[in-house]
Formats: sequence, C-alpha cells, structure tokens
Amino acid sequence: HSIETGKFQWSSPSNIALVKYWGKKDKQIPANPSVSFTLNNCKTITKLAFAKKQNQDTFSFDLLFEGKPKEDFKPKIQQFFERVLVYLPFLKKYQFTIDTQNTFPHSSGIASSASGIAALAMNLMSLEKALNPEMTEDYFYQKASFLARLGSGSACRSVKGKVVVWGEHKNIQGSSDLFGVQFSNAIHDNFKNFQDTILLVDKGEKQVSSSVGHNLMNGHLFAERRFEQAHENLEKLIQVFESGNLDEFITIVESEALTLHSMMMTSIPYFILMKPNTLEIINAIWKFRNETKIPVCFTLDAGANVHVLYPENTKESVLQFIKDELVDYCQNGQYICDEIGIGSIEN
Ligand code: PMV
Repeated sequence: HSIETGKFQWSSPSNIALVKYWGKKDKQIPANPSVSFTLNNCKTITKLAFAKKQNQDTFSFDLLFEGKPKEDFKPKIQQFFERVLVYLPFLKKYQFTIDTQNTFPHSSGIASSASGIAALAMNLMSLEKALNPEMTEDYFYQKASFLARLGSGSACRSVKGKVVVWGEHKNIQGSSDLFGVQFSNAIHDNFKNFQDTILLVDKGEKQVSSSVGHNLMNGHLFAERRFEQAHENLEKLIQVFESGNLDEFITIVESEALTLHSMMMTSIPYFILMKPNTLEIINAIWKFRNETKIPVCFTLDAGANVHVLYPENTKESVLQFIKDELVDYCQNGQYICDEIGIGSIEN
C-alpha cells in the first residue's frame, strides 16, 4: 500500500500506578512488574498529519503544543523516533505535523509523558495499519503499547483500560516486559468507577527525572528485595481485585507509594520528593479514615503531588473532606478530579 497524505487523531489518558515501576533491568525493560488504573479525564489529544516526502534520509516533523510551535519537546520526539524506527520503517518517508494538547493544565506538575507518548504511538500505529491493513486489532494495540514503552515505560500502560499490568508476573497469563496487558481477571464492584482526585501540591519542575530515578536503582542497597516485593504486592493485589477487600487494597497501595519514596531517600544521591504539604495531606487522610472508616487512601508518583483514591460510593463525603481539609495544602487550591477510564480512543 502507498499512502501520500492523511491525518489521524487519538486521545490517550494518563495512568496511576498502584504497584510502582521503579528501576530497569535493561533499556526500557522494567526490573519488576507494575499495575495501574488508567485514568479518564487527564488526557493528551494528538493529531498527526503526514505527507510523503522526497528526502528520506532523516526524520522531518513539526511540533505544535496547544496550537503553537513547541521546540522544547523536539529532542524527546527525535529520540523516540530513533528508538522505534526499526519497528516503523515508514518514519523517514513522511513529513509529520504533531499537534498536541492536554486536558489538564500544562505545568500542573502532572506528568504528561505517559499520555503524550501513548497518543503519539496510537497515531503512528494508525498509519502503520493503513499501510498494512491485514493487521489484527489485538496486534494493533499490543504493538502500540510496545512502541509507547520505548518512549516512556509507564506510557505502555496508557493504551488500554481499566487496569493494566506491565511486566512479567507468574500469575498473570500473557504478561510481558515488552508491553502492557489489560488485566482480565475478575474485578470486584468495589473498584468500579474508582475515583482519583489529584492534589497539586507542587507544580515545580521535577527534581529528579524518571530516567535519572530509574538509574538510582542500579546498585541500590535494597533493590533486589524491592523488586521481589513488587511481585508479592502484585500477587496480593490480584486477590484483592477479586475479593474487593478495600483494607488490603489500602495497605498495598500506600505501602507501594511510601516504598517508592523510600527508595529515593536511600539511594546515592538521595532525594526527598515529598513536600511538607504532602505529609500534611497524608496525615489528614489517615485521620479522616480512622474517624469515618471511609476507605480512602493515597498514592504518590515521583513527586510531591498526592493522588487520593476512593470508591465511587464514597465520592460525596470524600470530596467534601478534600474541600474542607485538603485544598489548603494544594498550590493555588488546585486539584483535578479523575476516575478509572477505558484507555486510548480514536477521535
Ligand atoms: O515511565 P517513566 O519512566 O516516567 O516512570 C514512571 C515511574 C513512576 O511514575 C514513579 C511509577 C509508575 O509505575 O508509573
């Protein structure tokens, strides 16, 4: 097939890890399996326009962010193109315009790399499929996740919803280090429409980029035990998804978040990525949970922001609690309400 010009548009959501990916075995190969909830509202929407070109020796692409040219993302895309060229041989044959926007405030401190890379990978796969129409739907999504991983590991978990596992685990059939797979075991109704309210504690630039962070696990004193723990926590979580045991869920998820930060505090060089308000929020959540018995918990990424996780049927009370007690700890009172979502969609 030969295609001269065209365009696609995909939107891909962010995701929040419950069992964290922190450390690599090899380039873009995770040291342990991870699992995440795919989100619904925090999304990147990317249009890809393409036209066949004469010179086929180099990559040619223009980047627009929210309608305006954006040079700073170019090296990241260039690197991504270099990594995936062997899997997408058409990449040097077209001139691309990549036009991207996020549904969440840019510079909100929410990482857009997972959603951004996933949305780009989906678009590139649409072109790959147009050139190879015999491709199956399963292959399409699997390869999209495979490509997204090469751009940013956690991005491979943003292709599908609602719960995605990335990395080999003995109890999850079909799990792979090379792409994310939809978790297809039983999931209890307690997790249906699970909520994630993201409290923006610190919108500043990340102190530690995730690539630097993953490298801190090489030769880390506690690395091997940590990687085993991730396997154990994922195994427990599989049972929790089935049983609906929210107390167990809370223990695993909060422990994973604190372990991630412990790894950063005990690496050389060491980092403290939580801010005083992160701790204020954690303590307030614990107090509220103790007093009300409402099963609300927190998780953290490699930064100061707090993800507040809770079942849909507690939404009213938890949102009231957030407004009454947690908003004051957020920068400019900002927070984002999100929930579990279905993954990337073409639109
Ligand atoms: O995908 P990366 O390389 O940006 O790493 C993401 C790491 C964490 O967000 C801290 C954990 C995770 O599993 O998403």
